[in-house]
Amino acid sequence: MSIFRTKNLDDMVAATRTPGGLQKVLGPMDLVLMGIGAIVGTGIFVLTGTGALTAGPALTISFVVAALACGFAALCYAEFASTVPVAGSIYTYSYATLGEVVAWMIGWDLMLEYGLATSAVSVAWSGYFQSLIAGIGIHLPAALTAAPGAVPGVTTVFNLPAFVIMIVLTAMLGWGVRESARVNNIMVAIKIGVVLLFIAVGAGHVHPANWQPFAPFGATGVMSAAALVFFAFIGFDAVTSAAEEVKRPERDLPIGIIGSLAVCTILYVIVAAIMTGIVPYKQFLGIDHPVSLALQYAGENWFAGWVSLGAILGMTTVILVMAYGQTRIIFAMSRDGLLPKKLSNVHPKYHTPFFATWMVGLIFGFIAALVPLNVLAELVNMGTLAAFCLVSLAVIIMRKKRPDLHRAFRCPGVPVVPGLAIIFCLSLMAFLSLITWMAFGIWLVIGLVVYFSYSRHRSELGKAK
Ligand code: ALA
Repeated sequence: MSIFRTKNLDDMVAATRTPGGLQKVLGPMDLVLMGIGAIVGTGIFVLTGTGALTAGPALTISFVVAALACGFAALCYAEFASTVPVAGSIYTYSYATLGEVVAWMIGWDLMLEYGLATSAVSVAWSGYFQSLIAGIGIHLPAALTAAPGAVPGVTTVFNLPAFVIMIVLTAMLGWGVRESARVNNIMVAIKIGVVLLFIAVGAGHVHPANWQPFAPFGATGVMSAAALVFFAFIGFDAVTSAAEEVKRPERDLPIGIIGSLAVCTILYVIVAAIMTGIVPYKQFLGIDHPVSLALQYAGENWFAGWVSLGAILGMTTVILVMAYGQTRIIFAMSRDGLLPKKLSNVHPKYHTPFFATWMVGLIFGFIAALVPLNVLAELVNMGTLAAFCLVSLAVIIMRKKRPDLHRAFRCPGVPVVPGLAIIFCLSLMAFLSLITWMAFGIWLVIGLVVYFSYSRHRSELGKAK
């Protein structure tokens, strides 16, 4: 069955083991920092507002539920990544294991995930940017502040700052500016610093009465919020993508993944508790900068300004990482012949996939300008949760199909842990809205049509066989 043809796994693994590959330099601490760098962003700085409206103060529990889903899936991810430690993502792994059509669908799904994530984080960026410039008395015309329908009771047309940041970062990526490890470390320090600042300043302003009632919308509210704030944990796969460069993957990968997830979970739970302790949760309606709002509410305007600035810088790096990931997936799919070759053309001067970068930047820039954040975040979550389910399933399948493979890191408790990952992820998916399911379904159908009418016949692997 040619649609299930696979790349040769043993060749791919051998290629990564030959001398001259990437240097093995990363230790557990590097991985934890890398994870935090990719994780902390919109989820905590923005979606906590809607999360609080959905779950009430029980948002803290929602964060724990979302973290568990990620934790189980992360262990599966780590096994995959350490078995086939090629630089790349689950698209590449699945091409070698599950077959072309599955790899295609995962790649198609990831395009949605990474692309819309860049749009979502740009929208979040815009919210903080506007709150910051408002602090110095600058206000954009209301029509240019948000997507149509994003703010209840206000006529908005186009989210200009979201569009502009996307274009600026696209230009940087196109010129080949990449976030260096040093910049990443500085950004991580700023992000963590801002979150700790919020905790330190905010803690003194908590009124425990605001935590009552704790879960005004019951378990449904908690799960719906968990399905939304799941977004806050996306990005830890950055840790697994470094598998090839890790000194002792069998020990360091799980530490890196679980460590960064654990640190983020603790920070998120504390921030959620303090936010809902300062501001009665109902007041987050229509607010796009809830963390700095909480400090303003407490009268700490000066600190609120710093938090906004830190959030803006932190989210800028998340957009860069996601946009970079997006272009590389498109690049890989195009090189394999599944997408048009033009998308893997490298610019002669800048040495970047220039055309793909700009195409992605423009498409997702317009989406950022025209679609509200919650809609985008839900779609990203849907795509990611679906990918997690597939990866978890793949771990079970590969243990049966290829027990002989050397796995630098083995997911514990197979098939229970992958099974739990699937159950948790499916449960969260069940709480996403109908419209998200429909949009996701349409995207998958388009993907299948493209595969069967185009990619299948152009595949390099198909030509070789
Ligand atoms: N976890 C990342 C964020 O919240 C995607 O911005």
